[in-house]
Amino acid sequence: MASSSNEKDFAMTDANADFSLNGKSINLKVRKGSVGPEVVDIGSLYKETGAFTYDPGFTSTASCESQITYIDGDEGVLLHRGYPIDQLAEQGDFLEVCYLLLYGELPTRTQKEDFDRRVTRHTMVHEQMAWFYRGFRRDAHPMAVMCGVVGALSAFYHDSTDISDPQQRMIASIRLIAKMPTIAAMAYKYHVGQPFVYPKNELNFAANFLHMCFAVPCEDYKVNPILARAMERIFILHADHEQNASTSTVRLAGSSGANPFACIAAGIACLWGPAHGGANEAALNMLGEIGSVDRIPEFIARAKDKNDPFRLMGFGHRVYKNYDPRAKIMQKTTHEVLGELGIKDDPLLDVAMELERIALTDEYFIEKKLYPNIDFYSGITLKALGFPTTMFTVLFAVARTVGWIAQWKEMIEDPSQKIGRPRQLYTGHTQRDYTPIAKR
Ligand code: CMC
Repeated sequence: MASSSNEKDFAMTDANADFSLNGKSINLKVRKGSVGPEVVDIGSLYKETGAFTYDPGFTSTASCESQITYIDGDEGVLLHRGYPIDQLAEQGDFLEVCYLLLYGELPTRTQKEDFDRRVTRHTMVHEQMAWFYRGFRRDAHPMAVMCGVVGALSAFYHDSTDISDPQQRMIASIRLIAKMPTIAAMAYKYHVGQPFVYPKNELNFAANFLHMCFAVPCEDYKVNPILARAMERIFILHADHEQNASTSTVRLAGSSGANPFACIAAGIACLWGPAHGGANEAALNMLGEIGSVDRIPEFIARAKDKNDPFRLMGFGHRVYKNYDPRAKIMQKTTHEVLGELGIKDDPLLDVAMELERIALTDEYFIEKKLYPNIDFYSGITLKALGFPTTMFTVLFAVARTVGWIAQWKEMIEDPSQKIGRPRQLYTGHTQRDYTPIAKR
């Protein structure tokens, strides 16, 4: 390829890409995944040309190689280890999906029984952790409590923090998957001022979680199987989503050799943001703020106004430029839950349905490919299940823990793994001399 001193050319062939910069040409390897776009390996670019690449928000940059989850955002496809999310959500259970994400294959019956037993036997948390909660203010947001308590796990379970030991890595993984519902339910109970409820190991993962959240010592609590199945589906739908912001945070934190509990706490902190996991809480708050169907046009107009920072929460996605496949299943689950609970006239649901209808036919949303995402429906369902909005992102964290841990494990076990250390385009001052304060 021709090049002149200021010319930047980029051409791709099947197996390599010729890149030239300031008269120097190099040949970059083009890697092909099992499916998905080709990936230009720019690892040697700086060494060969002295140049960095610039891609804020990683819109065109693969940060790692992975075999766990595949998304085709244009087609609305989500696969875990090759299995479509709708098949897993309709036919599988959450611990089966956890096994699949962690080990790469669906378990046999014996493997499943063994895995269920291992997770179930780790559901209790160290009794001293109950005292740890009391250090938080009663009105603390449960996500703030989650960041603190999960980070503190490394203090309680220090015997599984040696990341070079595969046995300790697996124990830490099982502990995190098993204890996260207990920790989340305790955060909820603390939030509402009720006593903590111990896990009940005869119940499955989702039913046990509902029990720990909604049982009280003064009366019997029977888990409704339809609601437990809906909870299970919500967990499955949120289990992993390849290199999203919180997962990338977990990988980056883990790349320094930090222990798994600290890495997952970092993931929780990232998930809390309204552009990510915090969107389900924000979406429901927005539906409440809209309040009634007749006010929708006002909010649609605000969403389109470039001078107004307002966005329709629960719409749009960095990767999906089509219907979020999880949203379709979530929408069905929402109706099942509302049907089971006999909720017919929920004003928030009316607003949600009309908002969805308008947004799907509005030129602005069509042109920008802004479809409802999973958070649009999960909020309505979680509210119907009895959770306050402040708990929504906590539930997301419970489900995503397995995705974080599977991705963390994959990274640690990758022989080419290095500490994550991005470069930058520096636009600050060049070197200048220090002026003593008296002279400034
Ligand atoms: N409402 C109105 N306009 C929007 C919205 C929205 N929800 N989302 C994107 N846009 C517009 C945006 O203004 C921009 O317009 P323009 O090209 O004229 O500047 C265009 O669409 C592209 O948006 P972007 O911000 O460049 O896209 P992104 O890929 O950086 O952001 C997003 C993706 C999810 C952060 C964004 O769509 C958003 O803020 N949505 C609302 C929050 C939300 O629902 N988040 C949950 C994501 S799904 C769960 C998860 O993975 O955590």
